[in-house]
Amino acid sequence: MTRLVTSISELRAVCHEARSRGDVVGVVPTMGSLHAGHRSLMRAARADCDVVVVTVFVNPMQFGPNEDLDRYPRDLDGDVESCAAEHVDVVFAPSIDEMYPRGPSATVVHVAGLTDRLCGASRPGHFDGVTTVVTKLFAIVGRSRAYFGRKDAQQLAVVDRMTADLDLPIDVIGCPIVREHDGLAKSSRNAYLSTEHRAVAPTLHRALGQARAAFEAGERDAEILVAKVRATIATRPEFDVDYVECVDASSLEPLQVIEAPALLALAARLGSTRLIDNVDLTPTS
Ligand code: PAJ
Repeated sequence: MTRLVTSISELRAVCHEARSRGDVVGVVPTMGSLHAGHRSLMRAARADCDVVVVTVFVNPMQFGPNEDLDRYPRDLDGDVESCAAEHVDVVFAPSIDEMYPRGPSATVVHVAGLTDRLCGASRPGHFDGVTTVVTKLFAIVGRSRAYFGRKDAQQLAVVDRMTADLDLPIDVIGCPIVREHDGLAKSSRNAYLSTEHRAVAPTLHRALGQARAAFEAGERDAEILVAKVRATIATRPEFDVDYVECVDASSLEPLQVIEAPALLALAARLGSTRLIDNVDLTPTS
């Protein structure tokens, strides 16, 4: 039976009790509107942990003033059903008041450097919102394993760094990107796409796939790989590219030559919908 919890004190008590029994707690932070990508994280947590908690909270602090907070899809009943189907023990769905009872948090967790680039450059303050709410969730849940998707590769790198820097008692686990049949990375925001834009959207994955093929054939020049991605995206005038970058997988520093695990990442808009995607490029020789 999946239990719906809305209060911080109750979640804290459930997690504390679980650990006193010797159970391992797994947590999957989400903003709800759960899809197969989220469900893959729940499955990973279910396989590793005794008690699985999914958090569902559309965190106002990580949305910019002109972003989609108001129209972000919400479906708590559907989310609880998805969690039940994945044998999740607890859904934590707090109100805004429960999470921010004193209004906007005066305390902000900021991870310097890693948050300036890629999505951070065009979404100022976004990662501060993410790291602050994730720190709160980690503080409530306590010692646990936390599951994050590689779809949001920068978020994963930032949370990983924050957890290490602050010695939080959390094992952060990255999980593979789940895609639609045509390659588009699953995202709650895909629901915003018009039929025409939805048909064009898989070009992003195709572009990254072509660059990856070139990388596998031996190309190590980051600029050439980035240019390949840009050229494929440019075949569709519907896209407005925010960035295409090749960076070190953990520091997120831009690379010229790929000699260590790297990330080829992009963000592009179709109309008002911002899509992100990435591929890992790990040199074997
Ligand atoms: P949300 O966008 O709901 O994503 C929750 C988690 O699901 C993230 O770790 C994200 O990377 C993962 N995810 C989303 N789509 C995925 C896909 N196609 N394949 C694999 N994993 C996928 O990310 C957030 O919420 C928020 O920023 C949050 C961390 C909850 C803080 O508010």
